[in-house]
Order: sequence, then structure tokens, then C-alpha cells
Amino acid sequence: MSYIFGTLSLVLAIFASLVVAKCPSGTFQGIQGDCFSFNNTKTNWLYALDFCSFHQGTLTSIDSALENAKITNELKSLTNNVPQKVWLGGYVGYDCDPQTVNCHNQWVWVDDADFYYDNWDVNGNSGDMQYGLFTAIDTVGGTWFAVNGTIELAFICKYPPGLI
Ligand SMILES: *[C@@H]1O[C@H](CO)[C@@H](O)[C@H](O)[C@H]1NC(C)=O
Ligand SMILES: *[C@@H]1O[C@H](CO)[C@@H](O)[C@H](O)[C@H]1NC(C)=O
Repeated sequence: MSYIFGTLSLVLAIFASLVVAKCPSGTFQGIQGDCFSFNNTKTNWLYALDFCSFHQGTLTSIDSALENAKITNELKSLTNNVPQKVWLGGYVGYDCDPQTVNCHNQWVWVDDADFYYDNWDVNGNSGDMQYGLFTAIDTVGGTWFAVNGTIELAFICKYPPGLI
């Protein structure tokens, strides 16, 4: 009997987590449960960040090849397979090693995710680490570019599961 209840509550728990994890229509779910919202209004990077933050989200960070593939797949169909660049939440920041006080520019994410994974395009100018450059993803190839933040592009916000 307790075995049956155990199994039943496990099934209910899985079902409940699936229901909670569902993303609202017009958004799609990533592999870690976050909801992503693509917005095809072209804006500069800072405005895009403001828009996502105002809605309790962030401009999207991507930390794995699997998530990158999932997002690219969705963006590809949302933009009808026509390549365009879309703002992500990466920017050129300044980082200092506390021990050596050795400081240098480097790519960071606005939501403080680790910038371990990347998918720079061969022509993406990732090494051009100047202030004022930000990451944009190509909607068809899924590769990343360093783009001047004053350029106006579509953008993609990321929301934690259950928030929207
Ligand atoms: C897209 O962003 C614009 C502002 O840049 C906003 O007016 C519009 O409501 C947004 N659309 C969605 C679906 O969030
Ligand atoms: C971005 O573009 C603006 C306007 O053209 C320019 O003034 C600025 O130097 C550019 N920044 C970078 C990092 O290229």
C-alpha cells in the first residue's frame, strides 16, 4: 500500500513540476526550464536589457551547447529561417584578479552566469574586447557576434521558471 502511495505521489510530483514549468504562449522553454521571449522590435542593447529587466527577466545568457541549439532552433522558426542577429546579454566587462590585481577586459553575462561556454562565429570579432560591444546570436547559424550596442536589433529575454 505504501508502495502504491509512494509511486502515486512521485507521479503527482512529476506532473506538478511539468505543470509549473510550462511557459506561457508566445514564449518557449529552454532545457533548464527557463522561459524565453523573443521580441522582434529592433532596439539598442541597453533598451533591450531595460525591457527584459522591467519584466523581472534578463537579456538571455547561454551556458551550454544544448541550450544554444534549443534557442537557435526556436529563433530559426520565429524568424522564418531568415538570418538576423538578436541581442543576448553578454558584454565586455572589466575583471581583476584579487591576488595579482591583474585586470583585463573580458566577456561577461548581465545575469552573472559564468561565461564558460561560447559559440563565437569565426567572423564574430570576439577578441575585439572593447567597451560598448555586446553579444548577438545569429538566428539561423546559432553563432555569436560582438556588435556595437548602439545598433538596433531584435532581442530575447529570459525568465526564471514560473515567473511569467
Ligand atoms: C517588444 O518590445 C517592445 C518595446 O521595445 C514592446 O512595446 C512590445 O510590447 C514587446 N513585445 C512583446 C511581445 O513583449
Ligand atoms: C559604436 O558606435 C558609435 C556610433 O557610431 C561609436 O561612436 C562608438 O565608438 C562605437 N563603439 C565601438 C566599441 O566600436
